[in-house]
Amino acid sequence: MYQLLIHTHSGLRWIVLLTLIIAIVNSFGKTNGSRAFTNRDKRLALMAMIFTHLQLVIGLILYFVSPRVIFSAESMKDPLSRFYLIEHLVIMLLAIILITIGYSRAKRAIDEGKKFRNVLVFYLIGLILILIGIPWPFRYEVAGWF
Ligand code: HEM
Repeated sequence: MYQLLIHTHSGLRWIVLLTLIIAIVNSFGKTNGSRAFTNRDKRLALMAMIFTHLQLVIGLILYFVSPRVIFSAESMKDPLSRFYLIEHLVIMLLAIILITIGYSRAKRAIDEGKKFRNVLVFYLIGLILILIGIPWPFRYEVAGWF
């Protein structure tokens, strides 16, 4: 069960990154209000948000079953333990909150350009945070690519 969760969580990162990039690229050049925010644009933004939320659910389960998350003051002294106990959690939560705010603001905005701007700005900051928060194998030997 743990192995299945970790591989799903690890592999899903690529879908999260891809759907975020698609939603961001789709919003480029449309923030001036020259184009309507269609159902297709909304669906692209929604897809990215759904995958980040799915990642949050799996991440939360992993947080309580992973042997890498050790609830002890000692964890703060070890960079790898601190990363999984605090840093990964806080950075990813912040990113997911921003992406969710961006989506709901895009949905509520009246101005067409503002809808795209909300997706562009909030999703871009979210993407940067996620890229920083991922345990890439070149930073942490124990992490994998998939
Ligand atoms: C978009 C958000 C997220 C992304 C892209 C992401 C990505 C990843 C990746 C790539 C790994 C390493 C997997 C490996 O070793 O191969 C990982 C590990 C982990 N993630 Fe996330 N994560 C996200 C959100 C979260 C959240 C919100 C939590 C906790 C609430 C979380 C908890 C964990 C834990 C506990 C591990 C370590 C599992 C282990 O190695 O035993 N993740 N995450």
